[in-house]
Amino acid sequence: MYNFEYKNPVKIIFGKGTIPNVVNEIPKNAKVLLTYGGGSIKKTGVYEQVTKVLNKIEFIEFGGIEANPHYETCMKAVDIIKKEKINFLLSVGGGSVLDATKFIAAATLYKNGDPWEILNRRNEIFVEEAMPIGAVLTLPATGSEMNGNSVITRISRMEKLAFGSPKVMPKFSILDPECVFTLPDTQVSNGVVDAFVHVVEQYLTFNVNSPIQDRFAESILTTLIEEGPKVLADRKDYESAANFMWSATMALNGLIGAGVAQDWATHLIGHELTALHGIDHAQTLAIVLPGMMHVKRQNKKDKILQYGERIWGIKSGTDNEKIDKAITKTIEFFESVGIKTTLPDYGVPAETINIIMARFEKRGNKLGENADIDFNEVGEILRNRL
Ligand code: NZQ
Ligand code: ZN
Repeated sequence: MYNFEYKNPVKIIFGKGTIPNVVNEIPKNAKVLLTYGGGSIKKTGVYEQVTKVLNKIEFIEFGGIEANPHYETCMKAVDIIKKEKINFLLSVGGGSVLDATKFIAAATLYKNGDPWEILNRRNEIFVEEAMPIGAVLTLPATGSEMNGNSVITRISRMEKLAFGSPKVMPKFSILDPECVFTLPDTQVSNGVVDAFVHVVEQYLTFNVNSPIQDRFAESILTTLIEEGPKVLADRKDYESAANFMWSATMALNGLIGAGVAQDWATHLIGHELTALHGIDHAQTLAIVLPGMMHVKRQNKKDKILQYGERIWGIKSGTDNEKIDKAITKTIEFFESVGIKTTLPDYGVPAETINIIMARFEKRGNKLGENADIDFNEVGEILRNRL
């Protein structure tokens, strides 16, 4: 196992009926900006639950944050914060609202020019300070509620980039699994697949003798495979919703990634598909991951065999046959929860592959746990999905 440092200061408040606790977590002298998305919170009753208890706290609202949140929208919130002297941000919504709120928190206090630089810095921790954030999460998927990551799209450049900093980790996150009850099928499917691939990015790499992390990872994968279909079948099944929600948080709160190699190439390639074609984040992962497993089968061999055996019970055949079966099982799982897995399924033309390759060639960085995936291999991975 590698050396590591691990600190996760996010207070999690989990369970049915916990949303009113938000009032106990916000500092009494706070002037709050309540951020939200396209309005689902007003239809589902979450907005009412939050604002009912906030009555003694001064707050103003900032709605209209898009799924795959836009830099341009975030910068409007930054202006309001400065004008209104806001000193606390409360995100009420899914991963997009929270990611936007994290960027807003960092951008407001950024002193070195255009805050887009925070996202352009790639792999560097570049945020010196950020405003405090609290979160009421309405959609299990991203793990954003318990991590310091944020992914933002700059529409004018069709770019989708990520940054990470402990400074933007929420002070608290409230996770009420009853929020799952109002999710449309697509968002449940997206959440299951996104959380699944978060685990895979930290697990299907190479062996560093980390049985604890491996078995944590496998338990999350198994739970998602068991509970995801139950949530899809019965949206009001509280126990399954709760297990799904906690799986998504555990998949990306740093715990299973501590001390092990991490990949993230599937995500980085997937972001390009969202930036260019607007495809949902999880759908892009379901497209790319099988291609990644196929092309990187030698580097990832030991872990794919372990995954195949422990998750899917694959025990017979040559190593190559077992790897093929593991890929097929993964595709079948994604399709069984309603997520298609090829580029033509989403109407993406072959020319897009050249555009994505050119973007990675220009950036010059190599991807994956071995930093050995160059733009040519990105092309190979995507061509596998035609
Ligand atoms: O915008 P509103 O009206 O709120 O509706 C949302 C949105 O349309 C709706 N929704 C949310 N909660 C609901 C609900 N509808 C009914 N009932 C509820 N309880 O669902 C739609 C999707 O919401 P969104 O927040 O976009 O989904 P998700 O949580 O999957 O977030 C996706 C974003 O997170 C990024 C992705 O790239 C994408 O931009 N990611 C963030 C990560 C992180 N911070 O660690 C890691 C991930 O890999 C991912 O990249
Ligand atoms: Zn993801």
